[in-house]
Amino acid sequence: MKKLLLLCLISLYTSAMTYATPDEGMWLPLYLKKYNEADMKKKGFKLTAEDVYDINQASLKDAIVRLGDGFCTAEIVSGQGLLFTNHHCGYDAIAGLSTKENNLLDNGFFAKTLAEEIHAPEVTASILQYMEDVTGRMMDSLKGVDDSKRGATAARVGRGIVEEVLKMNATLKADGYTAEVKPFFEGNQYFVMVYKTYRDVRLVGTPPNAIGKFGGDTDNWMWPRHTGDFSILRIYTGADGKPADFNTANVPLKPKKSIPVSLDGYKAGDYAMVMGYPGTTNRYLTSYGMQAQLDYFNPSVVALLAQQMASMKEQMDADVTTRLKLAGDYASLANTWKYYLGQMQGLKQNDVISEKKLGEKRFMEWVNGNAARKVKYGTVLDEMQQAYLLMGPLQQRSILLGNAAQSADALQLAGALDGMYLELKEKDKEEIKKESEKLTGESAEFFKEYKVNTDKSSFLAMLQMVANLLPKTAWPDALKKVYEGPGTPAENARRWVDAQFSTSILTDKARMDKFLKKPSLKVLEADGLYMYHKVMFDDLVATQPAMAEQRSKLGVLRRKYVQGLMEMQPDAPQYPDANSTLRVSYGTVQPYEPRDAVAYNYFTTIDGVVQKEDPTSEEFTVPAELTKVYKNKDFGRYASNGTVNTCFITTNDITGGNSGSPVFNDRAELIGIAFDGNWESMTGDLKFSDEMQRCIVVDIRYVLLTMDKMYGATRLINELTIAPT
Ligand code: ARG
Repeated sequence: MKKLLLLCLISLYTSAMTYATPDEGMWLPLYLKKYNEADMKKKGFKLTAEDVYDINQASLKDAIVRLGDGFCTAEIVSGQGLLFTNHHCGYDAIAGLSTKENNLLDNGFFAKTLAEEIHAPEVTASILQYMEDVTGRMMDSLKGVDDSKRGATAARVGRGIVEEVLKMNATLKADGYTAEVKPFFEGNQYFVMVYKTYRDVRLVGTPPNAIGKFGGDTDNWMWPRHTGDFSILRIYTGADGKPADFNTANVPLKPKKSIPVSLDGYKAGDYAMVMGYPGTTNRYLTSYGMQAQLDYFNPSVVALLAQQMASMKEQMDADVTTRLKLAGDYASLANTWKYYLGQMQGLKQNDVISEKKLGEKRFMEWVNGNAARKVKYGTVLDEMQQAYLLMGPLQQRSILLGNAAQSADALQLAGALDGMYLELKEKDKEEIKKESEKLTGESAEFFKEYKVNTDKSSFLAMLQMVANLLPKTAWPDALKKVYEGPGTPAENARRWVDAQFSTSILTDKARMDKFLKKPSLKVLEADGLYMYHKVMFDDLVATQPAMAEQRSKLGVLRRKYVQGLMEMQPDAPQYPDANSTLRVSYGTVQPYEPRDAVAYNYFTTIDGVVQKEDPTSEEFTVPAELTKVYKNKDFGRYASNGTVNTCFITTNDITGGNSGSPVFNDRAELIGIAFDGNWESMTGDLKFSDEMQRCIVVDIRYVLLTMDKMYGATRLINELTIAPT
């Protein structure tokens, strides 16, 4: 599951911690011995906690790679720094390196030699060296610090710790080490993580989209699945073995540890373990936070993303180069959209909110059992309820208006005019001239690709959507103006948009040029589209402080609540919410029963790929290479029961950022690559479900079959270590 990109929108609802149910838990590797080893062994693990995480000797952690800031995970599978990850993790790089003539995304690509491997400039690869608890130091520095300054102070002290760690050994920084301090348990604990970060990562191989993204957005977040969601990268280093900037003279990494592949498969109930970099969970979110999410956040985000996707799709369908340019952004929007949609439905249908309420009741019983606790935690839940009630509508308004304020390309140009607006007010001739020169270049660039009609229709659609979702009482003047008039609201809006787009300097090069030749405040203030932009932004800025106040209140309350929960069960093993740090999750291969009378098997096969084939749909096209292998039953050593398993499911607790994580068997051999979650557990980031939550994995034998039999990547197959059976 690739980390969702919704930036600042999400963090507002962060909070939570629950008590581990059987397979729940994204465990910290350094506490495996203390909390988990016995349980892991009980579930079937044959090795030890030290085999997983050891800072003195090579252990599994040395083969686990964080891609970028943790958007995905990868694993080292050869002595020459070869990495397996998901296709959707390599997607941006693959699309970025594709052209109309050399379309790696559609055709697939497997480098035949090292020299053919292509530098992927956006990708870095980090390997955790060690992590250390720095809670004591942090808390000393935070003692007596006002809540409003706490975040900034923690960040500053954290930076100091990082500096110190990297200076401990003067060569660490030069050797490509990086470090970060992160809060855990809502700021009740802090750890420093030290990484070695490699800057030369290359694309080695990818199946075509028709395998790597088979099933497309229709199958995304769903089981049963038949996606060959893998791609292959390689880490390069300087000749000295240290991280280095890209250079053709660089050499493949000689890793401390690489993971052997098992072709033995699995059966239901077998041990399965995932190591990787889960991005964000909100397991300590209260029922009030969930309710706010259901009432305000999810509906706004789902509607907005759908709107953005529709307008992007139109452009992408029009030409291949645009499609390749927007492919990565579109895929990520579509993924996020479906995530929030599924979560919203889950919050409505499942018992998650009422289960949370039960937990909160238990918490309050504990609190009320003792006077000191009452003083400390007595009001924390009530205060949170109040804060969410205030925060929800504010946040909804800010998300919707923030988008309405930027939803036309022409409005991006409006932003560039703000400097000019100020200078015109100041009447500073010199500066006006400078602005005018700058804008002449910028607008010439802008109008080269500007399509006024598509811009107008997507803007109108966005306005309608915002007007539908946002209660009238929350409308800013700029929006009221759009809908004023004698007709129906929709007619009025259309008339307003038509009028603005046919007169604004933002929508026509000739009008803009004329304005820039003789800039005038009067013209700008009479420009309805420009003024719409200004008024919307002023309004948004004005409401920020109220949001910031609730956000900071919630931050304090969540920390307190989690502190209370930890105090309530001091001996129960607890794991912190995901925060893009290395975690271990262990469980078993398991089928499930999604609803009445329906039972899902725990694996799919290549027969299912062929059953789903639909040459008229870009999502379900099957490449000729696969058809041929399938017809000839040319499955070699990757076969099982006369077919090939494509994907399987486990109870491993994962989330976005875990995409590309290795799935290990009981001997820590690679049996698959984790890539998704299932539709029935879309609320899983808020509450883990034992019965319904599954981690979807691409079977390593399907990966190897694709490489070996379909695309002849024997050079790479030969690099792998196949575990003896
Ligand atoms: N749902 C997956 C995740 O969040 C991404 C799957 C990408 N595949 C797709 N068809 N969009 O990591």
